[in-house]
Amino acid sequence: MNKDFDVIVIGAGAAGLMCAAQAGYRGRKVLVLDHAKQAGKKILISGGGRCNFTNMDVEPNNYLCSNPHFVKSALSRYTQWDFLGLIAKYNVAYHERDFGQLFCDDSAKEIVRILMSECQGANATVRLRTDIKSVEKVDSGFVVETPSVKYQVESVVVATGGLSMPKLGATPFGYQVAEQFGLPVLPTKAGLVPVTLHQSDKDALSELSGVSLPVRIESKDQTSFAADMLFTHRGLSGPVVLQISNYWLPGEALNIDLLPSMDVEQSLTEQKQKSPNQSLKNTLAQWLPKRFVEVLLAEQKLADKPLKQLQHKEFDAVVQTLSAWQIKPNGTEGYRTAEVTLGGVDTNAISSKSMMCKTVQGLYFVGEVVDVSGWLGGYNFQWAWASGWAAGQEC
Ligand code: FDA
Repeated sequence: MNKDFDVIVIGAGAAGLMCAAQAGYRGRKVLVLDHAKQAGKKILISGGGRCNFTNMDVEPNNYLCSNPHFVKSALSRYTQWDFLGLIAKYNVAYHERDFGQLFCDDSAKEIVRILMSECQGANATVRLRTDIKSVEKVDSGFVVETPSVKYQVESVVVATGGLSMPKLGATPFGYQVAEQFGLPVLPTKAGLVPVTLHQSDKDALSELSGVSLPVRIESKDQTSFAADMLFTHRGLSGPVVLQISNYWLPGEALNIDLLPSMDVEQSLTEQKQKSPNQSLKNTLAQWLPKRFVEVLLAEQKLADKPLKQLQHKEFDAVVQTLSAWQIKPNGTEGYRTAEVTLGGVDTNAISSKSMMCKTVQGLYFVGEVVDVSGWLGGYNFQWAWASGWAAGQEC
């Protein structure tokens, strides 16, 4: 039995590495175990290789969680400014994009380098290519068994993430450990994910693959986001679709405002007065991609006539289509492409201050394995940093 370590962190991702470094700085002897051959794989591919590592504006309402208050403690104790302090310590250049999103100027590798250097500075050991056979509770803590070694430790931190992107090493391991110790796990589903369309819509919209336009999308529960929507050959994607996918439920339609920065009725009325002989198609093509206008008119059965010939009913139908185009997805692309997993270990079973289970002394859950999912925009990494940091102060 190996008794060299006080804490085992399972998962060398964003939350696990942050937690290991923090615990190490407190003088705890920490071992991080991961089955992957590389630490922080998701960090490396995130943000198109530049990692959207946090956001300028982080609020609890940027997160989905069955207990909306749960995130408050960790997010307020380790903020985006704390992570920016770490970025400054390692002289990593970064920039801000739309909606306060912060990205590395150069490469996401720099974020992994920071975390690995922090672990090294805190004397936390990171061991990769290590499968975990079992985690058992014993009087003095836990026994964690790998194929070659049995470790006895006081604390175990589960930081194995969610189910998204199995090809990057995602597994349900964390949920299984939770269930083994009697903790509830809330149903999971793919989040921040493109949606797919029914065959008839796919056929109608197929030629738009690659077309992108700024829209506002509202889900049935009246949550809405404004950003770019992208037509793909299987459905809809782009930042606004990923955002709303967190709130979409199967069977529901999405309401799409195709011209969110315009008062459509007023603009169309003015255009009708100014250019009564202009066709509806040419009018709309001033505001929307031409290919999309052609498909939209056909799909909505709107006649292309001069504006002056539009009957009241037809005029209203155009306004309605432009401001609330309805489309009913038939599903999502699932965990294969999802950025996050919604649901997970029930936060009611965990202390929001330390991330320790209320019923199992010394067992912690951090990061995405917990039922906390952020919006697109650096919020998920901020949750990983904050929850990892919180557990690192106590484990
Ligand atoms: P994470 O998934 O990072 O780490 C879990 C670790 O556990 C992995 O190293 C894995 O190998 C290991 N593991 C799993 N099962 C195991 C087992 N059975 N045994 C041993 N080890 C095991 N967020 C954001 O804020 N900004 C962004 O730009 C992006 N971009 C982005 C792009 C893509 C393509 C994806 C898929 C995701 C994002 N995200 C994101 C989301 C973000 O990557 C995610 O929320 C965090 O990585 C979660 O951190 P965790 O440490 O909880 O899990």
